Amino acid sequence: MPRFSPQPQKGFTDFFPDVLRVHRYVEEHLRRSAELFGYEEYDGPIMEPLEIYAAKSGEELVREQAYVVKDKGGRELALRPEMTPSLARMVAQIQKSATRPIRWYSVPTCFRYERPQRGRVREFGQANVDILGPDSSDAELEIFSLIRNFMESLGADGKLYRIRYSSRRYLDALLEHVLGVPADRTVEVRKMIDRRDKMDAPAFEKWVRDVLPENAIADRVLGLRPFADPATPPVADVPPAFRESAGYRELVEFSRKVEETGLAGVAVFDPTIVRGLDYYTGLVYEVHDVGTENRRALFGGGRYDNLLELFSNEPMTGTGFGMGILTVKLFLETYGLLPADVGKADRKGALYVACANAAQRGYAFEVAATLRREKLACEVDLDFQKLGRQLGRADGKGYGWAAIIGESEARDRTVTLKRLATARQETVPLADLPAKLNDLSRGS
Ligand code: HAM
Repeated sequence: MPRFSPQPQKGFTDFFPDVLRVHRYVEEHLRRSAELFGYEEYDGPIMEPLEIYAAKSGEELVREQAYVVKDKGGRELALRPEMTPSLARMVAQIQKSATRPIRWYSVPTCFRYERPQRGRVREFGQANVDILGPDSSDAELEIFSLIRNFMESLGADGKLYRIRYSSRRYLDALLEHVLGVPADRTVEVRKMIDRRDKMDAPAFEKWVRDVLPENAIADRVLGLRPFADPATPPVADVPPAFRESAGYRELVEFSRKVEETGLAGVAVFDPTIVRGLDYYTGLVYEVHDVGTENRRALFGGGRYDNLLELFSNEPMTGTGFGMGILTVKLFLETYGLLPADVGKADRKGALYVACANAAQRGYAFEVAATLRREKLACEVDLDFQKLGRQLGRADGKGYGWAAIIGESEARDRTVTLKRLATARQETVPLADLPAKLNDLSRGS
């Protein structure tokens, strides 16, 4: 018999109960925030035709990162590397009848063949929150408010993270009018700016100089650093054409709205935010840890005006984000924001049925069934031997209470109810047990 490795594939995760509880903790907070803002949950297929990602998501995602499966009909399917194309496909089906805006969220498992590193794995939970319909950047204001609500609910105040935003249209105008990048190289220069943080400086410089042999232009691109106010890029003369561009006007207006809505503490303009996916057309944003421990984005998102055209003749715009459950978990660990017992099962109000004699097995199961019918959680020790060991196990698993069953309890249809942390115990008729436990858990 071959013996296989018990380890999962590289970049894949075995969610042991204690690990899964932490992920669920993050997920539940996201669900709560999304629902507080009126978003409804959806889900889609785990595989989609590869071409829907090839059409608008980007080369890297498709060529380097997609897990591709050929089905028996010879079709190439990808394990979903992201959710947004599936969302667009689903929205296209109900676009005509749906009440707008469509506010939807989802917490899918996604797959990308990436080099595993801190915060990046090959199979990952990614919460997605999107709003479709409104053209106005008020939709982004809502999304930013939702992000702030979620982060606050986890105990992270605005000093620990930033929502960094820019706009594709603004960047294009900046490249054209301020940095003088020729139009035929805009796409590549955008890509460079997006990758800058992930590359070492000499490789980055070489790439810039190869693509932009004109020294003055290359120097300006290399010199591009975050600046605080989109209205005033740090250059001697800002050409009027830049200030007149749609990208400039939109972004300057949006940053004023960010101020107005009190989001300026957490949301800051950053011209180097580009985002790797091709379908973004307008405002783009990422959430970053302000510290240095978690360098990769915790969330990434943006506005997509043309994604629905893959599936529908009727245009519809949308904006939203994806958020890695793992990246947020690491962020919370960094700042000690995870509750100490988050990985542990909470069984303080639950009951352990301990019965030292197999002859009373039937009664033990009846006690458990009675409790469960009343929605009270309990576990039956299946050993039916040494009582001391059973109570030890109950204690070790964190149970608050044990129902001890012996011959006399079975005969009288009672249990001996024991509070595990103390020596306190009393005999309770089975008929009264659910009410008694409910009273005890309410502290009366
Ligand atoms: P994305 O930037 O590719 O955007 O991913 C968004 C977030 O998902 C990242 O910031 C990160 O937290 C998480 N993530 C991505 N790749 C991995 C990985 N390999 N391991 C762990 N976490 C990962 C999108 O996917 C867009 N579809 C988001 C979106 C929704 N745009 C509009 N709506």
